[in-house]
Amino acid sequence: MKILGIESSCDETAAAIVEDGRTILSNVVATQIPFHKVYKGVVPEIASRKHVEWILPVVKQALKEANLTLDDIDAIAATNRPGLMGSLLVGLTFGKTLAWSTNKPFIAVNHMLGHLYAAQLENDISYPYLGLLVSGGHSIICKVNNFDDIEVLGTTVDDSVGEAFDKVAKFYGLGYPGGVIIDNLAKQGDSKALSFPIPKLDSPEHRYDVSFSGLKTAALNLINTASQKGEEINREDLAASFQQTISEILVDKTMKAAEEYGYNTIALAGGVSANSGVRKTLQEACDKRGYKLYMPDFKYCGDNAAMIGVAAYYEYLNGTRHGWDLNAVPNLKLGERI
Ligand code: KG4
Ligand code: ZN
Repeated sequence: MKILGIESSCDETAAAIVEDGRTILSNVVATQIPFHKVYKGVVPEIASRKHVEWILPVVKQALKEANLTLDDIDAIAATNRPGLMGSLLVGLTFGKTLAWSTNKPFIAVNHMLGHLYAAQLENDISYPYLGLLVSGGHSIICKVNNFDDIEVLGTTVDDSVGEAFDKVAKFYGLGYPGGVIIDNLAKQGDSKALSFPIPKLDSPEHRYDVSFSGLKTAALNLINTASQKGEEINREDLAASFQQTISEILVDKTMKAAEEYGYNTIALAGGVSANSGVRKTLQEACDKRGYKLYMPDFKYCGDNAAMIGVAAYYEYLNGTRHGWDLNAVPNLKLGERI
């Protein structure tokens, strides 16, 4: 069964062809980063216009790289939630139109569910497991009971982890997108050089929640104070210490949830799952406790359509089919059904 997956929820126009939910026949990602870089962040209107320009060539390229034609495709899938409304609408409308005009089944996919599937692409992870989903828009700790039964245990009470990386990098003039730049600088820095506050959030209702705005403000204050004194903070040390604090916040809450709910299998996913500090700290914590950790290959950490094709395959097996009236939804909780 070959599924054409389409992803356009933010600033990547992507298409992939996935066979039987496991074999990636092609995976094309056209990134808009150069167009948003000058604004130091994603500009929604530019993003949707670029998706309109690129969606057809990207889908054609995915077919070409898989050495297939549309006739070989059994079903079409597209992300419809969550994300930027204009961006989502391009991929969703394209996918629905293509499915309608070629008389093929159509399946809409939750972007965050797609990210979770990236961790399962190369591994069979048995349910239930604990998911740590970290991206530009979300920071979620969840119980994954089954492929369509996901319970959110904790989330961020303010900024997402990706936002924290991006905003500090922007403020420090490091460039865009900030996560990968901080990650690279951190490799040459001392993670103990600077100390940052760790948010408490210990009350029962926030037991598994995370917070990054205090940490972000502390980093900005440090940069400001140093510049007022005419001093300069070592960029590598700032990056390493900031990244280490983020890693500890995420890993601490994940381990707490794993211990208290009795999970010994954990999967990391989302754009920030590419972060070397988060990967290393989480791996060490899991090794120490004898937990099994699954992390996506780097090419499947960020937004891509292979993860959408894989998630769609399991939705398809479960009988999910969506109609032509299905709309895009900018905000939706993981595990919520349409
Ligand atoms: O999943 P994703 O590609 O898009 C969303 O669904 O949001 O995540 C994008 C986020 C951005 O905030 C980006 O800075 C961050 O992932 N990111 C990283 C790294 N690579 C991407 N953050 C930290 N370290 C990285 N290596
Ligand atoms: Zn994403």
